[in-house]
Amino acid sequence: MGTVVFQRADLKHAREIAAIATEAFQNNRWTEGYVIHTMYRYCVYVLEEGSEAIGCLMSENMGPTSAYIAGVAIRANRRRMGNGRILLKHALKRLEDEKKKTLLLHTLSTNTPAIRLYESMGFKPTGNKKKFPGGSEEIEFIRTTP
Ligand SMILES: CC(C)(COP(=O)(O)OP(=O)(O)OC[C@H]1O[C@@H](n2cnc3c(N)ncnc32)[C@H](O)[C@@H]1OP(=O)(O)O)[C@@H](O)C(=O)NCCC(=O)NCCS
Repeated sequence: MGTVVFQRADLKHAREIAAIATEAFQNNRWTEGYVIHTMYRYCVYVLEEGSEAIGCLMSENMGPTSAYIAGVAIRANRRRMGNGRILLKHALKRLEDEKKKTLLLHTLSTNTPAIRLYESMGFKPTGNKKKFPGGSEEIEFIRTTP
């Protein structure tokens, strides 16, 4: 495993991010074009190992001191090696540097890897839940820094 580098994504990463997100979220929304569209609305970050993108994360400003995190994903063959934690750690540092004191995200109630990762990084459930047709449910998490 090589050194990983966290950086703001640009257009040249769009194709790889689309592949990572398609694999991770198992829906066909994540085309290259959709990722490019996302880049204009969200801050999109990429984790690279050598010249290969292995993870992505998106954040959206919700106001001067708060942000929403979405699209956290690590390429399947690079999971369980600490990369998700590295990705989130860098993103949290970046957001803290930007004075974002309140961070919000949602995850499916069945997504144990994500829930464990978020809780270990200081996110706590708010108690709010979003229910979807078919029975799935998303839990809202918040992380606040003084
Ligand atoms: C969630 C995800 C980003 C974690 O990435 P990762 O690189 O595997 O995570 P790490 O190796 O850094 O593990 C960090 C912690 O997450 C938890 N975790 C990760 N994978 C896990 C698994 N399969 N089962 C249980 N806990 C797990 C553990 O607490 C782990 O800490 P530990 O290694 O000290 O026990 C990855 O599983 C993923 O891309 N999943 C698909 C996309 C997704 O669901 N994203 C979240 C959307 S809200």
